[in-house]
Amino acid sequence: MFVDLHTHILYNVDDGSKDLDFSLKMLEKQVEEGVYHVVLTPHVQSKVQKATRKEHIARLEELKNAVKEKGLPIHLTLGAEVQYRSHLTPDYKDYTFGNSNYLLVEFSTKEEQPIEEIVYDLSRMGFKVIIAHIERYAYLSLSDMEMIRRTGALIQVNTTSILGLDKAVKAKHVIKMIKLGLVDLISSDCHNLEARCPNMMTCYTFLKKHVEEDVLIKIFNENPKQIIDAIS
Ligand SMILES: [Fe+2]
Repeated sequence: MFVDLHTHILYNVDDGSKDLDFSLKMLEKQVEEGVYHVVLTPHVQSKVQKATRKEHIARLEELKNAVKEKGLPIHLTLGAEVQYRSHLTPDYKDYTFGNSNYLLVEFSTKEEQPIEEIVYDLSRMGFKVIIAHIERYAYLSLSDMEMIRRTGALIQVNTTSILGLDKAVKAKHVIKMIKLGLVDLISSDCHNLEARCPNMMTCYTFLKKHVEEDVLIKIFNENPKQIIDAIS
């Protein structure tokens, strides 16, 4: 059973799910893919952000009620995917996973940003930073990633990058990162029911052919469980 820590299932808040019904369909797919806990991570400080934090919270309650009514066996926690922007200083506390100090942060894919220093500063503020889809930041070398990880960040990669569904990323490179011990978490970053759909089990099954099982247990079970334990 899996945890999906990076999703765009909360509806009408960004470029993910459009409405409540679609969110329920995405959650049904999560259950089919063996997921029992989802963190909803709407885009924040991003061009695609469409809702305030107050609206995120209201929609979370509506979605939780609908999940209960439908009897779906899945837990929901509100988080966010905060785009780092040097000129903005949000109250990061508002965007952590539930009441934990885990914070998912996204960086520019084009413009090089001093990720290591940013992680250091956020860690000093008490946050446990999860770097969203690090494989997309083409300006980072493997040793840059190692330095960022040593600074205390958890490294997340997307299932779509591993399954060859993200044309901007080479799947082989991501598998190499996993084998080198540079990856802490794998999440779907699901936005829809097409190419970017909930696919945790599909990814796990694919990776079993390429990576030792004890490595996968750490990434898919042990590491996410630590985060879930901090939420509840
Ligand atoms: Fe995302």
